[in-house]
Amino acid sequence: MSSTPSDHHTASDPDRDRRQDSAGYAMAAAPVDAWRDYDVDDPDPGYFEFDWLSARHPDLYDRFALSSDGLMRELPTLVDLSGLIVCDVGAGTGRSTRATAAIANRVIAVDAYESVVRFAEVRARQSGIHNVRYGVADRAHLPLEDNSVDAVIACWAIIDDEEAFRVVRPGGWIIKMSCAPNALVGELTKILAEQYPSLVRVLPTPSPEWFKEGCPAKDFVESLSEPLATKLVDGVRHVHDFTHTAHYEGSGELAAIVGRLYGPRAASYIEGRGQSTLTWRLRIEYMQVARWSQLVFAEKTLPKQGEQRGQRRVPTPTDPPLTVQDCEAF
Ligand SMILES: C[S@@+](CC[C@H](N)C(=O)[O-])C[C@H]1O[C@@H](n2cnc3c(N)ncnc32)[C@H](O)[C@@H]1O
Repeated sequence: MSSTPSDHHTASDPDRDRRQDSAGYAMAAAPVDAWRDYDVDDPDPGYFEFDWLSARHPDLYDRFALSSDGLMRELPTLVDLSGLIVCDVGAGTGRSTRATAAIANRVIAVDAYESVVRFAEVRARQSGIHNVRYGVADRAHLPLEDNSVDAVIACWAIIDDEEAFRVVRPGGWIIKMSCAPNALVGELTKILAEQYPSLVRVLPTPSPEWFKEGCPAKDFVESLSEPLATKLVDGVRHVHDFTHTAHYEGSGELAAIVGRLYGPRAASYIEGRGQSTLTWRLRIEYMQVARWSQLVFAEKTLPKQGEQRGQRRVPTPTDPPLTVQDCEAF
């Protein structure tokens, strides 16, 4: 059931494809560009069904996901991942992974859907990236030891907090990246909210200023309640909101992409303006996990009875990078 970007498959039974097996969701990828041909009134997968859409059409999602590049370009201004071991949760077709691999020591990229993992693997190899290990896994069951990574990141994906705290070493980072509240579809949010009220929360309507280039970034902290606060170096979540404009190949191409993902209203908006850009108000949330000396609460992360602190092996940035063989053996 796995696929690469260039594989060709015959039409398959969606019910069979959507069955979840023990290794994750095994949906076959359709041939590249197959997403361009669909029933506008009854597409399968449906509009907004992002997990299914990216699993069925990884090449469509990868073309679309330029906002992930914007998030990953902004992240180093907030948290330095250079030389670290990073787990990318919900790694999808790999935009967040590839950007991380360029600065981190190594990346463990996991996603529940096999087709996107295979797509990402091929893309990374084509880009000459060899410090990524790929896995099909659920965010709630990461294939990692306790305290084994320096950071868990998720770009337009969900982190299971408890699992992230389990695998991140003390002093490490948990980083969530997506959109500012109520701005799920960037500058398209307002027009799509009228059509999909259940998918896009409309109140309060996002400020139109957010979608103008040059709108200033905003930084603030959110205090967290116990026990989460005590697990953090400073007890707070740091938030960074900023405006990002993604540039596509052309207006026709952008209209085709958003038309398939969000429906005809989104395509008309882009076509009507003849624009090849999409502007987003994006959000990066980052938390630093408390160091050993600050950990007085989380028994399971402390050395067990009879075990000396430091006995448990925590990988360091000086570990040799993974080889392609390592990646294949994952
Ligand atoms: C919107 S995509 C983000 C892809 C990528 N991080 C990027 O920025 O381009 C969200 C991803 O989360 C994955 N996902 C959904 N449920 C998951 C789960 N329970 N565990 C792991 N990944 C999951 C989907 O398969 C999808 O690839």
